[in-house]
Amino acid sequence: MSGRTFITTPIYYVNDVPHIGHAYTTVTADALARWHRLVGDDVFFLTGTDEHGLKISRAAEAKGVTAQAHVDEVAARYQQVWELLDISHDRFIRTTDADHQVAVQTFLQKAYDNGHIYKAAYEGWYCVACEAYYDEGELLPNPDGGAGLDPIHERPVEWFEEENWFFRLSAFEQPLLDWYEANPDAVQPAGKRNEALGLIRGGLRDISISRTSIDWGVPVPWDEGHVFYVWYDALINYATAVGYGSDPERFATWWPHVRHLIGKDILRFHCVYWPAMLLAAGEEPPANINVHGYLMVGGEKMSKTRLNQIFPADLVAEFGVDGYRYHFLRDTAFGPDGDFSYEAMIARYNSDLANNLGNLLSRVATVVGKKCGGVGPAPRADSPLAAVAAEVVREVSEAWAAVQPAAALEATWRLIREANALLEATEPWKAEPGPEVDGVLGDALEVLRIVAVLASPALTRAPREIWGRIGLDGAPTDGSLASTTGWGGYPGGLAVEKGDPLFPRLTAAS
Ligand code: MSP
Repeated sequence: MSGRTFITTPIYYVNDVPHIGHAYTTVTADALARWHRLVGDDVFFLTGTDEHGLKISRAAEAKGVTAQAHVDEVAARYQQVWELLDISHDRFIRTTDADHQVAVQTFLQKAYDNGHIYKAAYEGWYCVACEAYYDEGELLPNPDGGAGLDPIHERPVEWFEEENWFFRLSAFEQPLLDWYEANPDAVQPAGKRNEALGLIRGGLRDISISRTSIDWGVPVPWDEGHVFYVWYDALINYATAVGYGSDPERFATWWPHVRHLIGKDILRFHCVYWPAMLLAAGEEPPANINVHGYLMVGGEKMSKTRLNQIFPADLVAEFGVDGYRYHFLRDTAFGPDGDFSYEAMIARYNSDLANNLGNLLSRVATVVGKKCGGVGPAPRADSPLAAVAAEVVREVSEAWAAVQPAAALEATWRLIREANALLEATEPWKAEPGPEVDGVLGDALEVLRIVAVLASPALTRAPREIWGRIGLDGAPTDGSLASTTGWGGYPGGLAVEKGDPLFPRLTAAS
């Protein structure tokens, strides 16, 4: 069934350059967007950068450059990495974009006019890294004896006193609970939904949404000298990108049918604040929020201070784009925390890409060369692999619908293993040319064709290469999924090319 699919990643802070944690969310969102395009949906895939706030202006100051120069430079770094990883976003939004400023002002003016925003004095412990206030009780003890540490970055918080505009979040406890009740599947997985419900049931306090201490932000339209707090500005990017404040008709076609992919660190903002802000502005909360865990390195969250960050380009140099994408999509289940391991990445590449997929292609091409004069035969209608393929297509569809790329790839690779097993059981390389050999090879070619389609959301390069080598025109993503994954689509009679190994085996770098 086709429809409209609006997929988003968080917009990343430009105080840091992209590491494999940022890339994890973005590659997952990209693969999901590619899957939806494959099933014929009208897709809008959004990513971008979060460029305002104290954290950014301090990072620029520390480098001795203007905030604008700093954000331009780091936003470009993000764009380069996404290009390297074949990310197919439809827009790279920057919160410094002109249409975003208009959207933020329109959105919050609406909430103000609706009576949900008021002015009051504020003081409290503030963490600049989180851009958030904390209660005393939420802080970790500081071993050096100073101000407590924020629980996420474990850095000392600072005491802030300001006159702020406040959002009446407390008024939205019941509306939020009602929304969660009416939309039991909106936040996934269920554990994360329960966490959000726990925050709401624990009681919501009004939150400050403006700052006077800095000017690097979107001005509050009704009060000169105030800029909106970075999180308010940031969340609204999702609305800006589909026309909020500039093209109401376009906005109405996309909203609220959005799927936000986020890490668990920003659950509170997306699952509590954002739905409440939308209700305050008279809009519906987002249809879907999918929350994943942390990608850890050596059992710890990656951070600049721990010096344990890993950067995509270093891994792409060794594993290629497909090897990179495959590993993170296949080995880090979407939901729980996962641990990055270089050894596991090598092992996965060698077993699934070099051995299973790479070998199937090279074996089939070699035997077609020897036994069929290089011309690929058609598959058998009654092949034992036909039923496996049908089941795998169903499982893959279900897995993507549930945002479980690892399960989609696991199912796809089962089909590859079955094809290899059929070849090993029948040994066409030892048999005399004839209908038996043709049938088995035709079946294996058909598996390669279907696998090229099913793997195309995850692997952006190899599927097209396989497609060409087995003699097909165009690309695996050209037709509708129903027409390209049905058994019997490989016509036979096409020239099959051997070529170099698709995924040369790797040994661990010393
Ligand atoms: N700018 C805010 C988001 C605003 S969205 C309206 C922000 N930026 S961030 O640069 O800190 O990015 C956080 C997000 O990056 C996480 O929610 C997650 O998607 C991704 N990740 C960053 N580090 C990660 C890991 N170590 N593991 C998994 N994902 C991680 O918060």
